[in-house]
Amino acid sequence: MENVKILEHPLLQHKISRLRDETTGTNEFRALVEEIAMLMGYEALNDLPTENVEVKTPIETCKTPMLSGRKLAVVPILRAGLGMVGGITALVPTAKIGHIGLCRNEETHQPEEYYCKLPDTIGERQVVVVDPMLATGGSAIAAINFIKKHGGKNIKFLCIIAAPEGVRVLHRSHPDVQIYVGHLDRELNEDAYICPGLGDAGDRIFGTR
Ligand code: URA
Repeated sequence: MENVKILEHPLLQHKISRLRDETTGTNEFRALVEEIAMLMGYEALNDLPTENVEVKTPIETCKTPMLSGRKLAVVPILRAGLGMVGGITALVPTAKIGHIGLCRNEETHQPEEYYCKLPDTIGERQVVVVDPMLATGGSAIAAINFIKKHGGKNIKFLCIIAAPEGVRVLHRSHPDVQIYVGHLDRELNEDAYICPGLGDAGDRIFGTR
């Protein structure tokens, strides 16, 4: 699928395996989510524009590339997405951070926003939406609908583990969005958990399990 990239780096896979282990505790889990987000961000941001600027080294003056132009907005989907923010801002400290909180409407079963705050300049920024788990795709689609409604145009979506169903529906709804997946798992179970997955990412990040 165009615009869907499954990442395969051994360091990433090792860290994802540590996340899956049910004996991995909250501290390590949280640190791993951040490290994985950083590795994924490194890959996903490899098209950020640069321009040559003049720098004086201790030896001589040279023209050397620095980030230019498009600024970043990181948008975590609450609550588990929060765990990935630090990994991206470690790479790009000037990034602005938006938040999207979604819950399920018990009558319509559709995701609804309960808290959304995006940077005013979202339309001028490279938007990176983060959520560790892409399960049914419902939250990711709703979050991206919301971002587009507010003018967001250049959008990438980063998830650590995805179900094939989630990738398919997200890609179908938003074919322009580049989707980066740390590992593509087998399937969703009847409770919409990813198998083999890692359980509830939010509970494991925040120790609420
Ligand atoms: N969200 C999670 O945290 N885990 C899953 O397996 C699916 C969605």
